[in-house]
Amino acid sequence: MKIAVAGKGGVGKTTVAAGLCLLLAEQGRSPWAVDADPNNCLGYALGFPQHLLDEVKPLSEMREMLAERAGSSAGQGGMFLLDPEVTDLIADYEIKDRNISLLVMGIVDEGGTGCMCPENATLRTILRQLVHAERDLIVDMVAGLEHLGRSTAQAVDGLLIVTRPAGSALRTVQRIISLAEDIGITRIWMVGNDASSEQEMTKIREALAPVPVLGILPHYEGLSDEDVFAGTAGQALKLDLSQILTKLEE
Ligand SMILES: Nc1ncnc2c1ncn2[C@@H]1O[C@H](COP(=O)(O)OP(=O)(O)OP(=O)(O)O)[C@@H](O)[C@H]1O
Ligand SMILES: [Mg+2]
Repeated sequence: MKIAVAGKGGVGKTTVAAGLCLLLAEQGRSPWAVDADPNNCLGYALGFPQHLLDEVKPLSEMREMLAERAGSSAGQGGMFLLDPEVTDLIADYEIKDRNISLLVMGIVDEGGTGCMCPENATLRTILRQLVHAERDLIVDMVAGLEHLGRSTAQAVDGLLIVTRPAGSALRTVQRIISLAEDIGITRIWMVGNDASSEQEMTKIREALAPVPVLGILPHYEGLSDEDVFAGTAGQALKLDLSQILTKLEE
């Protein structure tokens, strides 16, 4: 199962991505968790201990090495990196806790130019590599998909879009769906989050129709950013997420 989790800012992407990883790990599987969001909180949401998170070398640092290796393999058949060379770089950059391997992109918008091309190229290279591994992959995305290319789209089975009942989040879904189609993502799953009532659940389903909604997670009273950082938010949603995971695997 290789899934990118997307959605408008603050809808619960990191919480859902972490919850899915935790469930997979508990099933004895060994998921890759890729934090592709510059605010880098997936590791916290997964409950990784601080000493491991302190060791994280952002993957964006890897790009020089990738560029060097790309250059050195250019004579042997092209622009794409030789797989084994990327594999050992990934092994060097991942941190592991329980059965989960975390890769942190650490994308930084340097100089405020808004161009993240080199970092995105690194992300694409990594994802293309991970797709060959027989392991689950959960990518916590930034809100937009603009930086995803067709090659990245091919690296995941599909996109899981998270939305809250708010109109702004629901409208963003339509934009994400059309961007996803543009880059060739064929499977899209919808998950509602933070619905406080039956009415809000209905609002989500109606707004997204005809796209089917895999499931809707309820509002958890008192859940906050602190829970995301303490690694307890994903845990809180786990029970409800397990039904969604089952449907994802169908
Ligand atoms: N079902 C829920 N009930 C109550 N609070 C929730 C729920 N899901 C997420 N939250 C809270 O909403 C906030 C945003 O969640 P999260 O960080 O997972 O969203 P995000 O989409 O990853 O945000 P960002 O776009 O900033 O990366 C957090 O404080 C989290 O605890
Ligand atoms: Mg997030």
